[in-house]
Amino acid sequence: MNTSSPASTGVYPAPRIRFANPLLIESTRPMPQHIAIIGAGSIGPDIGYYLKSALPGLKLTLIDLAQPALEAALKRFQGYADKAVARGKMKADQAEAVLRDIHVSTDYDALASADWVLEAATENLGLKQKIFADVEARVASDAIITSNTSSLPAARIFAKLRHPERTTVTHFFAPAWRNPAVEVIDWERADPAMVEHLRRFFCETGKLPLVTADAPCFMLDRIFDNWCNESALLLDQANAAQIDTVAGEFVHAGPFFVLNLAHGNPIIVETNTLQADEEGEHYRPATIFGSVERWLTVAPGKSVPVEADVVANVRDRLLGVLFSQSVDIVDRQIGTPADLDLGCRIALGFRDGPLTLMRGLGEAETARILGRFVSERSGMPQQQRELAGYQQFERHVLVDDIGVGEIGDAGTGAKVKLITLRRPEALNALHDEMTDEILAVIRRHENDDDVAGFVITGYGPRAFCAGADIGRFPSMLGDAPAATQYSRDCSRLLVHLDAMKKPVVAALNGMALGGGFELAMRCHSLVAVRAATMQLPEVTLGIVPGIGAMVVPYRRWPAAAATFHAMLRAGERLTATRAHELGIVDALADDYRSLIAAAAERVRALAGRIKRIPDGAVEVPEFADRVEQAASGLKLSPTTVGIIEKAVREAAAAPTFGEALEIGYAAFGASACTAAAREGIAAFGERRTPDFGRTG
Ligand code: COA
Repeated sequence: MNTSSPASTGVYPAPRIRFANPLLIESTRPMPQHIAIIGAGSIGPDIGYYLKSALPGLKLTLIDLAQPALEAALKRFQGYADKAVARGKMKADQAEAVLRDIHVSTDYDALASADWVLEAATENLGLKQKIFADVEARVASDAIITSNTSSLPAARIFAKLRHPERTTVTHFFAPAWRNPAVEVIDWERADPAMVEHLRRFFCETGKLPLVTADAPCFMLDRIFDNWCNESALLLDQANAAQIDTVAGEFVHAGPFFVLNLAHGNPIIVETNTLQADEEGEHYRPATIFGSVERWLTVAPGKSVPVEADVVANVRDRLLGVLFSQSVDIVDRQIGTPADLDLGCRIALGFRDGPLTLMRGLGEAETARILGRFVSERSGMPQQQRELAGYQQFERHVLVDDIGVGEIGDAGTGAKVKLITLRRPEALNALHDEMTDEILAVIRRHENDDDVAGFVITGYGPRAFCAGADIGRFPSMLGDAPAATQYSRDCSRLLVHLDAMKKPVVAALNGMALGGGFELAMRCHSLVAVRAATMQLPEVTLGIVPGIGAMVVPYRRWPAAAATFHAMLRAGERLTATRAHELGIVDALADDYRSLIAAAAERVRALAGRIKRIPDGAVEVPEFADRVEQAASGLKLSPTTVGIIEKAVREAAAAPTFGEALEIGYAAFGASACTAAAREGIAAFGERRTPDFGRTG
């Protein structure tokens, strides 16, 4: 391994966070009542719209020196709300509430009563410092002050303020009203409780907070800026359209296309000059940025011809800069590997996180690419450890330790491991790699005397888990053995749960759909927030829930058989309160922290008392009526309903639980070969209602 030192400025301190899951943080401040945003350019109003849609009761003040910009912002709010109503994402009265209590002003006095002032105005340090001095002179001493800078370290922006402890950088990504990623910078003079408050606030309002160190350009813009700068430096080998074509293997939109969209050339000049001044000449922006305004390139999904040797060189350089920045970010603790991969996908539109890309290419190929890059681009960061060392992290789950009494649970005994499913882009939907990751965490700790057991929950306020990842289904359609095997693979975790000695409790923080509910029903106890719901929507997709839902409920909660008949055949929704009455859910909670506290208590109470799902044939009630329509009114496929009924009957008659499960896997395999499945999965992908009338 080449350990020649990169021209880095050293390792940053580890972030001061107690819980990886932000919703475990105890609130230390009330929710904001009045937020003021400075800057009515492109991103300020978008941040405002996100805040108002998440908290319609909020007072929002938008400040800008230019009245026309403020008027344009108001029009933009109206346009977004109109679109949301037209698409059925918002009701008219909700849209009205979102648009209420929004104020615009050219006068800083209008922000005096704000409990949070967010600046999204300028990247000029001197101007920023002046703005913040003006803000601090007007707001209360504990009002939060943040900047949306994409590059300037917090220490430089806020150092001169009287109360720097309530300041930090909160860096959003375009379009900020919809893109969930937000970098929250943990800088040395920020009060850690305020940083934690912001993480919790963002997570609670549907964002994905990513904590980063106070490095120039933080985490994700180090990737983005250098990716763009390297692309510009490559213009001696290929044109912009060719480079975007090659980049299309890794990103949804190529660097030049994005630069056009974001008018990004001056931004790269600014941010890369900053990095060059701080960390070395190899970051200096390409001179061509000074002379070009728009790039001639292709739209995402389109390509131009590129010679094979040019592809190879451009690809190596693009991957080189990506990997070089990624190892540097991990080595210097600018961000965690999981946040880096997730952030690149969610904020920047990479198809795969860079570390996952490295894993896919293998160590030898990654080492070749990095070695070549560093030799061509002297000074650029090189890996500081064996490449395998960058792969040891969970990609799709967060793991937290909950000590006795720590979040209000009244139990006694060892700590509980909390596993949080985190795939915010798909409402925490499961795939085989994710279930294997959960299983690996369980295996790592299940023989540890310091661990009482496990709780599984979902990231964010909306979903425990929206089921199996439907995006992976199309490749299985028409292939019964492959689909059957996929069910079996996804069940490795569930089969392990069946035999575990330590308790695992499902904490339903929101909707538990399809495979998500199937995971929950194999946990040894379920607890839920009152607003949680459970549903088996597969029948509305023309498929069947193959990893236990046609088997487990009839063995575990036989008294609720009629409810499960309706859930399976008509996709009926089950509320947490009803599930509690039926004995499916053991405890209800009012909020996220009490949910996890209740789940941890259940873990401790279940020690040595786990009930196994019984073997032997079981009785199930007849399917008396014919079901033609889903609870939503959708006309269903009789073929799919027939596969469900047959599997339920046969699984109930199976002599062992294991054989019953196999019937479920095979039924999923059979459903994947129907015309209904093709129609249902295609309709989901195309965001339309399926037409099972044609499929039978
Ligand atoms: N697999 C893959 N992606 C999923 C998913 C799943 N099971 N459930 C949700 N998602 C994705 C959506 O495609 C969407 O992605 P996009 O933003 O890239 O388009 C994102 O998660 C957010 O979901 P969206 O549909 O925009 O939210 P919504 O509030 O309008 O609807 C649901 C929420 C849960 C009703 C809807 O997402 C849904 O019906 N999901 C499928 C649930 C299901 O059938 N599960 C069983 C699978 S076998």
